[in-house]
Amino acid sequence: MSDEEVLFEVTNSHLNTGLRGVPVGTCRTSFVTPTEGVHYCGYPIKELTNFSPEDIVYLLFNKELPNPQQSMEIRADLARRAEIPGDLVAVFRTLPKYGHPMDWLSVAIHTIGMWETTGDWKEDAMNLIARMPRIMGLMYRVREGRDEDIPADDTSLSMVQRFVSTLDLDEIDNDKMERVIATYLVLHMDHGGGNLSTFTGKAIASSKATMYSAMAGAMNALSGPLHGRANQSCLEFVLKIGTSDPVEVERFVRGELAEKRPIFGFGHAVLRSEDPRATVQFALGEEICPDDENFKIIRTLREVAPRVLAENPNISNPNANVDIASGALLHHVGLEDPTYYTTFFGWARVMGIGAQIVDERTVFRGGKGTPLYRPKYYAEQQTLRHIK
Ligand code: MLT
Repeated sequence: MSDEEVLFEVTNSHLNTGLRGVPVGTCRTSFVTPTEGVHYCGYPIKELTNFSPEDIVYLLFNKELPNPQQSMEIRADLARRAEIPGDLVAVFRTLPKYGHPMDWLSVAIHTIGMWETTGDWKEDAMNLIARMPRIMGLMYRVREGRDEDIPADDTSLSMVQRFVSTLDLDEIDNDKMERVIATYLVLHMDHGGGNLSTFTGKAIASSKATMYSAMAGAMNALSGPLHGRANQSCLEFVLKIGTSDPVEVERFVRGELAEKRPIFGFGHAVLRSEDPRATVQFALGEEICPDDENFKIIRTLREVAPRVLAENPNISNPNANVDIASGALLHHVGLEDPTYYTTFFGWARVMGIGAQIVDERTVFRGGKGTPLYRPKYYAEQQTLRHIK
């Protein structure tokens, strides 16, 4: 596109709409189309689900999938960076247990940044990515009062295995848990440049605050119920429905709509058909837990809710979104407390947001980076006046 090409006409009606759809920049890691959903560096997400999270990290940072040698190298690189440079358990022990896990995650990221920031965007992004499995595992352990005898971080394992081994739960099918989390991470890493947490992270980074400050801020953005925390609300909603009987589910959905309450797990700001990330998770659920009660409920919801929602002409996308199935799968593999679900989203997004911040700070505008974010606001109800 030429510098003069008109991309978008801003009218009064666009003001105070949260920049929805207003072009502000470019993104090298991913794009989202209304029908095919997210693509990472050109690849439709559904073609990437069998790759490991480590390989997708390589893709997001290098814009190419790794060959076997590069795949081994990125694992070794992440292992070398994995050690957390301070006593995170001690910090976690000081936090209120009633605080939301997303707030804990944000505090953890910010604290690690105080212990050690290199100032090199990519180094800091990769270091943080390498430390996330342990941060997540330690957070669970301390919140759940299992903060003694935590197994050492075995960095010879994959990122997901490191989390699972830190968690060290009894009577859990570790392979199944690893499969669900690995798929979850790959699906949730990135979603274009304009989603709120990514935008927030990049905006903070544009002030040349640190990668860790930017990422802690991004996690705070993700923690809101209209953004990442929707996945927590979604499983809570499923548990509230409590039946997979289609007639009962339809009655429940209509009742919620009549009370003007949201139907969680449906609709999206950009997508206009079922989110392929939902389709992938449904397929995984059919394979590993077709008879799980919550999975049966979401299977029915997927049939019923779009039909009911489509009766309202104001709803532009009545289809299932990414949040519909992730909670049921995490619950099935033993991660039963929905208040943690957004932290997995956060864990995944650290990789995509990290890659996008590195691009914005070190690649764009011939390496000069995107300047300090400073959109324009018009004055409202502020006629000029003076103190008499
Ligand atoms: C998503 O993954 O669906 C998002 O981050 C929400 C969005 O794209 O705005």
